[in-house]
Formats: sequence, structure tokens, C-alpha cells
Amino acid sequence: MATAPPSLRTRFTELVGCTVPVQLAGMGWVSGVDLSAAVSQAGGLGMVAFPMATPEALTGLLEDVRRRTTRPVGINFLLPLLQDHACIDIAAERMSVVEFLWATPSPRLVARVQAGGALAAWQVGSVEEAREAAYAGCDFVVVQGVEAGGHVRGSRALLPLLGEVVEHVDIPVVAAGGIATARSVAAVLAAGADGARIGTRFIATTETLLAGAAVPVPASSPFCPTRTTTGQVDAMPLYAGEAVGAVTRIEPAADVIRELATGAVALLNRALSGPDPD
Ligand SMILES: Cc1cc2nc3c(=O)[nH]c(=O)nc-3n(C[C@H](O)[C@H](O)[C@H](O)COP(=O)(O)O)c2cc1C
Repeated sequence: MATAPPSLRTRFTELVGCTVPVQLAGMGWVSGVDLSAAVSQAGGLGMVAFPMATPEALTGLLEDVRRRTTRPVGINFLLPLLQDHACIDIAAERMSVVEFLWATPSPRLVARVQAGGALAAWQVGSVEEAREAAYAGCDFVVVQGVEAGGHVRGSRALLPLLGEVVEHVDIPVVAAGGIATARSVAAVLAAGADGARIGTRFIATTETLLAGAAVPVPASSPFCPTRTTTGQVDAMPLYAGEAVGAVTRIEPAADVIRELATGAVALLNRALSGPDPD
């Protein structure tokens, strides 16, 4: 039987109630029920993203998630694609975390999430936006560097941006962009992050959802180009971040979580204990 990943307690794990400070990035048409439940079952925070789902469809999908795991799971809303704000209330009643991307942090939306019983988070790309998220009342903030895959809000390298954000906000900070290995998880934790958010690495898991149907792609859609996509392909989101070189195989999400947590603990311990004696 597979061993459980080591527990790595941070402000993020304490707040959210998970045991490994790794958040699956909400990725439209990629992070579905299977992948999110697998990450949460393995100790991380699974995140679903169902852009453009109707309130009825979303209710069914989230109830499916809740049947798969009793552990914390969150949901991501890419705000330009959110058609019906009733989805926020449906999500807040069923998910542990409701997070947003691609709009100025809104105290009204944050309060709406918290009134439904969920934690509210915002993915941001600058120090100013991180401060706005904290001011809006978010429970935690995700800071995204330019190394990220998908819709990239950040225009700066993650480490210097993260260093500034942790100096300016008191809420837990999750780092995103170019993190795919235990080394990079350890690096952002050592740099002051409370958690690591990972997208690209989790695309290469056995539980990922990959869109295969023939569908029109609206502006701002997170649909990834495939070999058969036609049209203005360069206007679509980047489908992998800078850490893609570290993704060398497809494996179960729980194995990824275990490798990242075990490796990060070993690296952090080694960094603290100094060079090996001769
Ligand atoms: C294929 C793909 C789709 C994405 N879709 C979304 C999305 O719908 N909403 C969102 O907030 N972020 C989205 N992102 C960005 C992630 O939240 C996160 O910032 C990013 O994956 C982190 O960088 P990494 O890919 O290097 O791990 C997406 C990323 C990828 C790779």
C-alpha cells in the first residue's frame, strides 16, 4: 500500500484543512472531478474549474465531487467567463474554497463567498492586486508569476514578486508559476509562501480531463489548443508554464503529491542542517 506523504504544516494547510501545502491550479476543462478529488485525497487542495457551467450543471458536478471525497476541495472562477453569479452561491455552499481570477478583487464577491460558508481567495499578478485582495477580505491570496501556464496575470518572475507580496500582506500567500518539482516547492516555501499552486505538472496525470470535443472557443476561454484546433490559435492561453521541462511522465496525482511533499521536506531539512560532514 502506498505510504502517505509527510505532513508539512503551514498557515495554508491550517486554514484550508489539508495536510500538504500544494494547491492544484483550477484549470478550465482540465481540473475536473477526478483530478481534484485525487489531489485532495492525497493531502493537497484539489480545485475544480467548470467555466460556463449553468447553475444546474454546476450543482450536479459539485455534488459528484462531494461524493468522491470528504477532504477540502475548492473551485475556481475565471470571472470573464462566469455567466451566472448564482454559481458563486452554489459553490460557496458546497466547496471549501471559492477563488477568482482576472478581475479587480471585489469585497462584494468575497463577502458573498464567505456568507455561503467557504473561504475566499483571489489569484493575482502584482503586489498592488495582492493588497487589494487582502483589503477585499480574502482568506488567502495566490500570487502568480509570469512563468505560469494558462491565463497569465503576472508579468514578473515569481520569486521577486512573491518576496514583495509576503512583505505587504498578512494573509496566507500561495505561490504559482513554474513550480513542478520538490525543489521548487521547497524554494517557494523557503521564500515565504504558505503553499505552492501547480498547474502544468498536474496536466500530466492519469486523472486529467482533456477536451476532445469539437466546440467553438469564446474569447478568454481556458480551452487549450489541440492538434486539430483551427483559427486564431495564438490568442488561446499558453498550455504549459516554464516548468514544463520537469514534466517527463504521466502518473497518478497522488504520486505527484507524495513526491513533492517528501522531496520538499528532505530539501528543507538539508538546507537547514548545512553541508554533509566528510
Ligand atoms: C491549461 C491551463 C489552464 C488554466 N486555466 C485556468 C483557469 O481556468 N483559471 C485560473 O485561475 N487559472 C488557470 N490557469 C493558471 C493556473 O491557475 C496557475 O496559475 C498556473 O497553472 C501556474 O503555473 P504552472 O502551470 O507553471 O504550474 C491555467 C493553467 C493552465 C496550464
